[in-house]
Order: sequence, then structure tokens, then C-alpha cells
Amino acid sequence: MSELENFDPDWLALREPVDHATRSRRLEELLAARLTGRDRVRVVDLGAGSGSTLRHLAPRLRELGVGAVQDWVLVDHDEDLLARALASPVPAAASVRTARADLADRDALRDVLSGADVVVGSALLDVLPAPVAAGLVEVLSALDPRPAVLFVLTVRGGATTEPAVPGAAEGFDADQRAHGLGPDAAGVVAEAFTAAGWSVQRAATPWRLGPSPLLAAWARGWFTAAGVVPQPVSSAVVPHEDLLAQ
Ligand SMILES: C[S@@+](CC[C@H](N)C(=O)[O-])C[C@H]1O[C@@H](n2cnc3c(N)ncnc32)[C@H](O)[C@@H]1O
Repeated sequence: MSELENFDPDWLALREPVDHATRSRRLEELLAARLTGRDRVRVVDLGAGSGSTLRHLAPRLRELGVGAVQDWVLVDHDEDLLARALASPVPAAASVRTARADLADRDALRDVLSGADVVVGSALLDVLPAPVAAGLVEVLSALDPRPAVLFVLTVRGGATTEPAVPGAAEGFDADQRAHGLGPDAAGVVAEAFTAAGWSVQRAATPWRLGPSPLLAAWARGWFTAAGVVPQPVSSAVVPHEDLLAQ
């Protein structure tokens, strides 16, 4: 397994309520419409972390009229996060299992995606290096039948703060690009899906943060990565994007 970053579970917990409130309702409705009338659906969550998407999307699909039993597979390279996901209550009419895998490993990816009706990922695409994202679209495109794919909360560049801090967004975005696709991820992946014949819908899903522990934690990380002296900010708009491919 390659050298992979471990995400702080406290950070994931802090962002979870805002993530849940921010996700595109329209794309969720389109996904649910495709699943109506099914008895059972297999949902594979890539880069599942501690299970945020399961906690949001499983009940949300039921609310949208999807009566199917949902069999979730949570995939991540980080076993500690997967253990946390398993420790939370299982949503009604769902089964949950975990699989440890590196998304850069195409054989492992094919294995976990086999039989998937829905593939989801949250806050994932921007952390993936370009070849891993390209491999992911390639493996998804080779599945027969193809699943519906919902990647949400992909970071876009150009976050803004009040007061404005010159150079911070540019510094942060450059740092992200040094680690993965960063702010280019949503565009690159959308183009790859379209080129492979998928129908792609995109929705802007920005965080709009006021004074809160999340704003404070986000700003600390943002200034540090940007190489800018941390400054107090009272609000921020952090662009994200959701993408549905089917
Ligand atoms: C920002 S976190 C998001 C976690 C979760 N989806 C959420 O929304 O809370 C990104 C997740 O992707 C996982 N990840 C990143 N690169 C990966 C890879 N190559 N293989 C497997 N998991 C990976 C990380 O371990 C982490 O759990």
C-alpha cells in the first residue's frame, strides 16, 4: 500500500453536520429516482472515513421514497476510521460492512466495486492524485452494468474570508495541487466521465461558515497550508462541488 495521509477523526466529526446540510438535494433526488422500485441496492462508499455519508444518505434515500434494503460497503485505507464507522448505529433497513483498500490499487478497486448499484464518495476527489482519479473513472466505466456515481463535497479553489487575506487562497490551492488534484479535481473527473460516455450533473455546494469551531479549525489549516500568518476571520465561503454521473 502506498504512503497515504491519515485524516483526523475530530476534523471529520466537526465538519459532518455542515457537510450534511450542504450536499446537493437536487442530485440526491435524481439518484433516488433511479433507485425507486428496487428491493435491494448495494452502495459502495469510497474513502468512507468514519461513515459520514452512510449516516446522511441511507436515511435520506428512504425519505425520498427508496424502499430498498441498502447493503453498504465502506471502503478506506484507514482501519481506525472504518472501525469508528462500524461503531455508529446502523441506519434502518441497511447492512454495513467495511473493506480496507487503497484506491490506487485497481484490482482491489474492481473487487470492492463488483455488483455496486451506487458508488458514493465525499470529500474525496480533491485528495486523489491524477492517476488514481483517472484509474477510478476507468474502473467504474468498465463495470457492466454501470452504477450511479455520486461524488460530493469536492473542494474547489478560491475560498474567501472576511476580512480578505491577500494571497491565502492562491497559497492554499497551490499546496493542494502539490498533494493531489486539489481544486482541479471536480473539473478533471467530470471531463473524464463525460469522455467515457456518462451523463454528468454538477452542483455548487459551498460551505458558508460564520463564527464556529468549524470556521476556527478550517482557518487554522487553511492559513498553515497557504504559508500565510494566521489571522482572525469572522466568516468564510469555501467552494465545493457535487457530481452525479450515470
Ligand atoms: C477528507 S476524508 C473524507 C472522509 C468521509 N468521506 C467524510 O466525508 O467524512 C478523505 C477520506 O479518503 C480516504 N482516502 C484518501 N485516499 C485514499 C486511498 N488512496 N485509498 C483509500 N482511501 C483513501 C482517507 O483515508 C479519508 O478517510
